[in-house]
Amino acid sequence: MCGIVGYIGHKNALPLLLDGLKRLEYRGYDSSGVAIIRDGRMLLQKKVGKVSELEKHAGPKEYEGSIGIGHTRWATHGEPSDINSHPHASNDGTIAMIHNGIIENYQVIKTKLEKLGYVFTSATDTEALVHLIQEMKKVSGDLETAVRLALRQVEGTYGIAVVSVQEPDKIIVARKGSPLIIGVGENEHFVASDAAAIIPYTRQVVYLEDGEIAVLTSNSFETKTIDNIEKVKQVHEVTFDIEEIEKGGYDHFMLKEIMEQPETVRNSMRGRVLPDSANAKLSGLNDVMLLLENAQRIIITACGTSWHAGLVGEYMLEQYAKVPVEVEYASEFRYRNPIIKPNDLLFLVSQSGETADTLAALREAKKKGASVLGVCNVVGSTIARESQGGVYIHAGPEIGVASTKAFTSQLVVLSLITLLIARQRRTVSDETASLICREMLDLPNKIQRILSETTHIEAIAEEFKDAHNFLYLGRGLNFPVALEGALKLKEISYIHAEGYPAAEMKHGPIALIDENMPVVVIAPKDGTYDKILSNIQEVKARKGKVIAIANEDEPQLRSLADHIILVPHTIDMLSPIVNVIPLQLLAYYIAVKRGCNVDQPRNLAKSVTVE
Ligand code: G6P
Repeated sequence: MCGIVGYIGHKNALPLLLDGLKRLEYRGYDSSGVAIIRDGRMLLQKKVGKVSELEKHAGPKEYEGSIGIGHTRWATHGEPSDINSHPHASNDGTIAMIHNGIIENYQVIKTKLEKLGYVFTSATDTEALVHLIQEMKKVSGDLETAVRLALRQVEGTYGIAVVSVQEPDKIIVARKGSPLIIGVGENEHFVASDAAAIIPYTRQVVYLEDGEIAVLTSNSFETKTIDNIEKVKQVHEVTFDIEEIEKGGYDHFMLKEIMEQPETVRNSMRGRVLPDSANAKLSGLNDVMLLLENAQRIIITACGTSWHAGLVGEYMLEQYAKVPVEVEYASEFRYRNPIIKPNDLLFLVSQSGETADTLAALREAKKKGASVLGVCNVVGSTIARESQGGVYIHAGPEIGVASTKAFTSQLVVLSLITLLIARQRRTVSDETASLICREMLDLPNKIQRILSETTHIEAIAEEFKDAHNFLYLGRGLNFPVALEGALKLKEISYIHAEGYPAAEMKHGPIALIDENMPVVVIAPKDGTYDKILSNIQEVKARKGKVIAIANEDEPQLRSLADHIILVPHTIDMLSPIVNVIPLQLLAYYIAVKRGCNVDQPRNLAKSVTVE
């Protein structure tokens, strides 16, 4: 959600800013802009549309300067337009600012400033803050103090970077609720909302915490709280490689990430599956083993795809580890005053580790005394840092807005957690535990088999690409997979799709079924197979078109389904990890055939850092 990048050093800032913005575009992509200081002048350029649009209007000669800030926007207040794009400038033109987050009391600030004669030109909340900084500068004289004084009057969330022509040797950055990192280079410093923007230039980063402000110059950075108390920060090393955030020959990040899954699933369980003792080893949970053992209830909270992973986790944990589990949308959990008991354990599942609602749920649960554990992908993310323990999923950077490889890796980690707790509580036999380990280790091969033959799925996509609606049905552990399949399709192809528990279909969605309705049915050979066949009969009786995800091409299914996509069989606990792969591919091919922007679907953002 909105990407921030800034540079101060000895190089020309513009190419670095544009490069960083392109890498951050997945966070927001409705407009972008830069502000560069040169010879005591603020050079500002901002354009609605992609970063490539901005690039056309910001020539390297004209915008040359070694200090600058850049922003790619996902609109909250005010439609995407040149004027509403960031950076926003103060009325006197001396200060420019970029902002990620929401200034909730902007209207109050705006009214006050208007009375003092400030003129507002945009419809954004951000503009109120930049004018407030100008006003505070009259009191303080210097930019850093002015930013601190202004931030103390602000309610809401922010990650900001501010520059002024009157102090052209520094960038002031601050964070509350929106991620910001400082990149430390040789006589140069960067600021960015995530490491992807600056990884080609430095791997040394400092994570800013909420309520902190930093002053960056070419050869130093100084960190304080907004109440002016000095903070000493540790420099961390980012470990991922530049290739991991590039397309590597694929047309889209989403396809690359789908195709990477044999490897990412392997990485998620590397060294963590212990076939000899039929157990799992998760070092991030070593310190909380007692909490796991004594937990009376597990609550999983998350958003979007991660919430679907949490739902699969509920089925796994209850079935195998026999712990009561509740799964809740983080946005609901945080506001409904949930009942938390002393032995409740909360798992936060989040690819980015920055989702505003999930983070707020974590803080709410902590306040109420719950123990909180994170299941995150991004190392060093806020949720990972604020949790008492947890497990990284190690899927590598995920750039495609529609989550794919993070989902399968989340499921792998939830399976490992299930195995660990089940062994601890002795709720599974040695044989079952051994089987889980064997089947887990075989997952990369099974996923590879599906990915090696995609022409059939592409042909199905061609046949159904013009459909207006899709229904996805699944039962048990594969009900959340139906939800995830439907979400993938609607996110990137804009076809309306609904996921449903297969048997529940007759309580409503069945009314929609006719010869134009494709129905994707997840029909693995498990305990519910015969029931699913009956559900398929119900669809066929109303002339729906059935696409079945199945383990065998057996006669009864063949006579009913219009298309069968075969996937290798595995145990029911792990079947979602295999069954979701063809659904990701189906959504991908349909979206491509409809000419949609697969990696940057309209209105969405990869990391939702506002409520
Ligand atoms: C956004 C993304 C989804 C993601 C969700 C939760 O909506 O577009 O792909 O599932 O946020 O994000 P998280 O980073 O917390 O998993």
